Amino acid sequence: MKEIDIKTLKTKELYQYLTSAVTPRPIALVSTISENGMSNLSPYSFFNVFSIRPPILIFSPVNRTIDNTKKDTLINISKNKECVIGLVTEDIAQQVSLASSNFPSEEDEFKKAGLSKHLASLVKPSLIKDSPINFECKVNDIVELGQEGGSGNLVICEVLKIHIDEKLFDSENNIDPLKLKIVSRLGGSWYGKTNEESLYKMSKPISKIGVGIDNLPLEIKNSKILSGADLATLASVEEIPNKKNTATNEKNTEEKHILAKELISEGETQKAWQELL
Ligand SMILES: Cc1cc2nc3c(=O)[nH]c(=O)nc-3n(C[C@H](O)[C@H](O)[C@H](O)COP(=O)(O)O)c2cc1C
Repeated sequence: MKEIDIKTLKTKELYQYLTSAVTPRPIALVSTISENGMSNLSPYSFFNVFSIRPPILIFSPVNRTIDNTKKDTLINISKNKECVIGLVTEDIAQQVSLASSNFPSEEDEFKKAGLSKHLASLVKPSLIKDSPINFECKVNDIVELGQEGGSGNLVICEVLKIHIDEKLFDSENNIDPLKLKIVSRLGGSWYGKTNEESLYKMSKPISKIGVGIDNLPLEIKNSKILSGADLATLASVEEIPNKKNTATNEKNTEEKHILAKELISEGETQKAWQELL
């Protein structure tokens, strides 16, 4: 294990470690407006949802490391306490990256990035027409986390209205991630996609309480073949099943565990249990 002493690190190195480790991060495309009415648009991946009611999103513009100045987004929000947050999809990711350039504050960054505006109904900053999900927000608070270059400023946004493209919904009225195609930020120049290769479902009905790995039979718990994930799947059942088929199983332990592993990977947990019992 590499142990990293924070005190000896330059801010840039610390940035690399933190942003390459805490991944993937969603990206907020933040639309604000200056005192002179100029539109600003910038991406922020220090971003997430923190409360449902009230609906709170938080993002963090850090003070520029070069000269410890505040970013335009923060300056605008400090003045008028409003923003629109759009989500970043594959279609617009390259343009969003362009919007992150340090354009002068007198320039309209929607125009620079070739993205279109749409009137918001409750706040002055524009909706981002090219983003399929926009949140109209009022800013309840700004929390300064430090005074140096690299210090974050938590912008605590209360969502007043959500705009969602109808095309994103599945038949059960949920947002379908495969239609949304959200893009995430990782370390360096890495970005993540949400497509069929990268997404999977993990069945863990929240209403059920699993038996837990500690309650699995020793032979299963100490298996050299079944992984932690396999054991977790087996231990998610409400009770350890009874053996249904009483015919003698000719396989040795290793063979049983190999077959059970295969069944688990196919989503056949009950069959895997029968094989193991
Ligand atoms: C995908 C992406 C995510 C970013 N996330 C952040 C962030 O969370 N915090 C930050 O201070 N800068 C972040 N940046 C850099 C800002 O977007 C950049 O400094 C921008 O120029 C700020 O614009 P502004 O001065 O108009 O607000 C990010 C850039 C990209 C491309």
